[in-house]
Amino acid sequence: MSILKEKKILVGVTAGIAAYKIAHLVRLLIKAGAQVQVVMTPASKGFVTPLTLSTLSKNPVLSTFFSKEDENEQWNSHVDLGLWADLMIIAPATANTLSKMANGTSDNLLLATYLSAKSKVYFAPSMDLDMYKHPSTIASVSKLESFGNICIPAESGELASGLVGEGRMAEPESILTFIEADILKNLPLRNKKVLITAGPTYEAIDPVRFIGNYSSGKMGFELAKHAANLGAEVVLVAGVSNETVNHSLIKRIDVVTAQEMYDVVHQNFDTAAIAILSAAVADYRPKEVASEKIKKDDASMQIELVKTKDILASLGTIKKEQLLVGFALETSDEVANAIGKLKRKNLDFIVLNSLKDKGAGFKQETNKVSIIDKSEKISEFGLKSKTLVAKDIFNKILKKFNG
Ligand code: CTP
Repeated sequence: MSILKEKKILVGVTAGIAAYKIAHLVRLLIKAGAQVQVVMTPASKGFVTPLTLSTLSKNPVLSTFFSKEDENEQWNSHVDLGLWADLMIIAPATANTLSKMANGTSDNLLLATYLSAKSKVYFAPSMDLDMYKHPSTIASVSKLESFGNICIPAESGELASGLVGEGRMAEPESILTFIEADILKNLPLRNKKVLITAGPTYEAIDPVRFIGNYSSGKMGFELAKHAANLGAEVVLVAGVSNETVNHSLIKRIDVVTAQEMYDVVHQNFDTAAIAILSAAVADYRPKEVASEKIKKDDASMQIELVKTKDILASLGTIKKEQLLVGFALETSDEVANAIGKLKRKNLDFIVLNSLKDKGAGFKQETNKVSIIDKSEKISEFGLKSKTLVAKDIFNKILKKFNG
């Protein structure tokens, strides 16, 4: 999965011959799972049609401050566009537009949107070789870089003028690769390994029966996705779960029993920077597993259970620099019980969810948690999707990790 998945991307097109290649760039961005809004300068429409770009981006293309839909005049707000975007790509970026961007000119919708953009801005210059080398263009590029904008350097080759040299816009594939690599390189958990457990464990009684629980694994999977989006190399140790994940930075290892989860977690803990144990591990397992299906004979039956190993507690005893996070699902004396677990298991944080809260806990799309740290400071959060809960948990972790 591309790091650009679900990213909101503004594509600004200016009037260079390479504008025809933007159709392919938009196609690649959509394939990567991004949402794309194209903004064109009026003159660029001579090089590629808005119809092509609106069809490929699945969004109407904007090029003027006002557009008429039937009888209604509509204002295209550069401010809203600037706030909407997770990143902006200006490609092709002509010498004229680079100069205007560098000097704060805003005489078209694209330039006004650029000035309003709160996100990172990438620009891919495209012009003839002498224009590219002109001190004025070089000055524009370095001024833009001093603003924090990022230049995707032009390539060398045959130019539309027939001349050969530097100035050709980077190919759409190279633009995509450049941006993905730049985002990854700057992510806060880049090159850090994050170990996550998720879902229930099943403890066999006989070949067809087991002791399990209602955990869906959703919370752990959301944590894994969020960690990967922060650049981490994630090892997701998953009990039996219907959740799916498809991310190049997530290695999923499926397990069934508490003992299997224990073994895989221990194989991976040493090299981990962060471990978050959100799995609902069975506390007990049958002492004996019947090799044949148990027949119903008597009016009642008993199964002797023995304790499983507490994976989280075992990590607490061996941890060095790792940041260790556990979960607590409580029904009474929530805070006191959670703090007890935090101390007993030597955790950095415990995420408490109370089954008393409507919409929180097992099998739900939502969760309501409090995060308690070592100094017993409690941060409470409202009911929200498990995706957003994962974000809150990582915000806490990042603060501690970087501070
Ligand atoms: N945990 C674990 N291994 C176990 C049991 C629990 O790693 N064998 C982890 C869970 O993933 C979770 C935390 O420990 O992060 C839950 O703590 P625990 O004390 O087991 O909670 P409960 O099962 O609710 O315990 P109790 O019944 O004692 O309240």
